[in-house]
Amino acid sequence: MLVAGLDVGSLTIKAVVLEDNTIKDFTIIPTGAEINKLTKDCLELTLKKTGDYFKDLKIIVATGYGRISIPFADKSITEITCHALGANWLNPDTRTVIDIGGQDSKVISVDKEGRVVDFVMNDKCAAGTGRFLEVMAQALGVKTEDLGKESLKSRRKINISSMCTVFAESEVISLIAEGCAKEDILRGLHEAIANRIGSMANRLRLENTITLTGGVAKNTGMVQALKKRLKAKVYVPPEPQIVGALGAALAAQKMAGNNI
Ligand SMILES: Nc1ncnc2c1ncn2[C@@H]1O[C@H](COP(=O)(O)OP(=O)(O)OP(=O)(O)O)[C@@H](O)[C@H]1O
Ligand SMILES: [Mg+2]
Repeated sequence: MLVAGLDVGSLTIKAVVLEDNTIKDFTIIPTGAEINKLTKDCLELTLKKTGDYFKDLKIIVATGYGRISIPFADKSITEITCHALGANWLNPDTRTVIDIGGQDSKVISVDKEGRVVDFVMNDKCAAGTGRFLEVMAQALGVKTEDLGKESLKSRRKINISSMCTVFAESEVISLIAEGCAKEDILRGLHEAIANRIGSMANRLRLENTITLTGGVAKNTGMVQALKKRLKAKVYVPPEPQIVGALGAALAAQKMAGNNI
C-alpha cells in the first residue's frame, strides 16, 4: 500500500513516500511563497524517484505550519503527533523527542506506542532555532552545513549572554572585532542553544532515549552540545529532517489500513 506524508515547515518542505511500512524515497526542498504548488512539486519529485504516480497514493497526510494550505492532502495532523510517530518508528526506545526546526523548537514526551504524553514548545521567537543559527552563520561567514564541524574545532570556552537573535548577532560581531576565534564563538552559540533547550526540556520528565529531529539535528556541534547538556542517551536518525513527514506517512498508512 502506497501512501505519502508531507511536512510543510517554515523553512523546508519534506515529502516521504511509504510503501508497506518501508520508506521508498523522500525529498527536501526550501519553502517559498507558493506553498501549495511547491508541496505538490516536492511530492511529484519523490514519486519520480520511486517510479510511482500521484493516483497510486492511497492517502496523503500533511503536517507542519503550512499543512492547512494543502488542498490535495486527505488529512492534516499536528507536527507534535507526527514527530512522535516518526521517532517511535525509527527507534521504539524513544521516550523524548526534541525537534529543532527553522522557526520553533519542541520537546515531546512519548509513550512506547509513540503517542504524545506531554510537550513544551518555543514558537515565540527565533532563539533556540535553526533560524537563529543561520543568522549567526551569516555574521561569521560560515556555511550553515559547516557550523557543527567548525564549532567542534574550539579549544576555548566563550559564553554568549544574549539569546535574543538581534542582540546575539551584535554580541557575535563584537566578539569578532575583539579577535575571538570563529570556532569558539560558534561553540558558545551552540552551548547557549543547548542550555535553552535543556531548560525547556526540564519542564517535562526527561526520559531515555532522547531522539533528535528537525534539520538542526544535522549539525554535529549542536548534537554534541545537547548530549553534554542533557546527560542522556541521545539518538540521531540518519535523516532527522524528514521525521515529521515520515510520521505523517505513518499516520496515512494507519488510516488507509483502517479504510478511513
Ligand atoms: N546540514 C545541516 N547542518 C546544519 N543545519 C542544518 C543542516 N540542514 C538543515 N539545517 C538547519 O535546519 C533548519 C531547518 O530545519 P527543518 O527543515 O526541520 O525546519 P522546518 O521544519 O522548515 O521548520 P519548523 O518546523 O520550525 O516550521 C534550518 O535552520 C537549517 O539551518
Ligand atoms: Mg519542522
